[in-house]
Amino acid sequence: MINLNVNINSKEKTYPIYIDNESIDSFCEKIKISINKKNFLVVISEKVYRLYGKAFNFPSKNLFVLKDGEREKNIKNYKKILDRAFKLNLTRSDMMIAIGGGVVGDLVGFVASTYMRGIDFIQIPTTLLACVDSSVGGKTGIDNAFGKNLVGTFYQPKAVFINTNFLTTLDERQFKTGLGEVVKYAFIEKSCKCQEFNLTNFLNEHFDKIFSKNTKILNELIKICISLKISVVEKDEKEGNLRKILNFGHTYGHVIEKLTHYKKYTHGEAIIEGMRLAFHISVKKGFIDKNYEFYAEDIFKKYKFKQIPSFSSDKILDTMKLDKKASKEKITFILPTDYSKVEIFEFTEPELADLIS
Ligand code: GLY
Repeated sequence: MINLNVNINSKEKTYPIYIDNESIDSFCEKIKISINKKNFLVVISEKVYRLYGKAFNFPSKNLFVLKDGEREKNIKNYKKILDRAFKLNLTRSDMMIAIGGGVVGDLVGFVASTYMRGIDFIQIPTTLLACVDSSVGGKTGIDNAFGKNLVGTFYQPKAVFINTNFLTTLDERQFKTGLGEVVKYAFIEKSCKCQEFNLTNFLNEHFDKIFSKNTKILNELIKICISLKISVVEKDEKEGNLRKILNFGHTYGHVIEKLTHYKKYTHGEAIIEGMRLAFHISVKKGFIDKNYEFYAEDIFKKYKFKQIPSFSSDKILDTMKLDKKASKEKITFILPTDYSKVEIFEFTEPELADLIS
């Protein structure tokens, strides 16, 4: 088993992350022992419940099964889960458990952060995307009509338990959306101020085993990605500065997701296209040469990320202005400046209009 630790300022915000590929049955037993509370509420994704509900075998009174899909990360489900917690008489010394992808984790984290001003919660991410990104770092939230994650909190879990056997039942597109975030880490790793892992080499060396979902290799891959993320969030929990680099590819990625109503493209597909635009802008600005852009494109192709047709500049700019990454009339863009390095830039609307034209 791999054991990592996140240390954010206070002891209260310090928590372990366990990564393993032990059998699902023994993992479920371990989770039950870890919960160790009189009362608890488990929120589990419908698909995960269908596949693994029996193995977890939680009493139905403690279970809330959440339908799958980004649309479920809404205020209605926030309220429904709160109501269940009140009906169960959860106190602040009890616990919530999120089992599923990023939707479940973000939503439950948000409920936990507000229920009686904060109740402990643990994350059990079952998608690659949630393992390498959303389950770590304490961003919680829900979506609304104005965009994704516009309502939320920074609230760290008490522990994260990852078992890569869950990833073996993901369909190809779900798995690949996580690979989008993995590839992102390869392009930002030297800016994460972490020990050198050389994710790019790891990806090249283990490409086939990653695609065939070899759980041992996935343990290592997730360890590297999470270590990079830990290094960033420990230095900047609330995205004052450094943490913004984790949004590489996201400024335009979120535009694509929003303009296609979170239906047509997965998050991974959208942020890969966002990275393509970032490389394009960097070449235009003279931060990198064309060879690096070609190199990046080769990687996107190797991971079978097709190009997404572009939108009009007006639509792109209008949508970007609404995003959390826009501040004080300027739009933040994370751009590559060297191999595996990125920097944070801010552009005015006319500057950006020129760059994306
Ligand atoms: N997903 C980016 C972050 O956690 O900051």
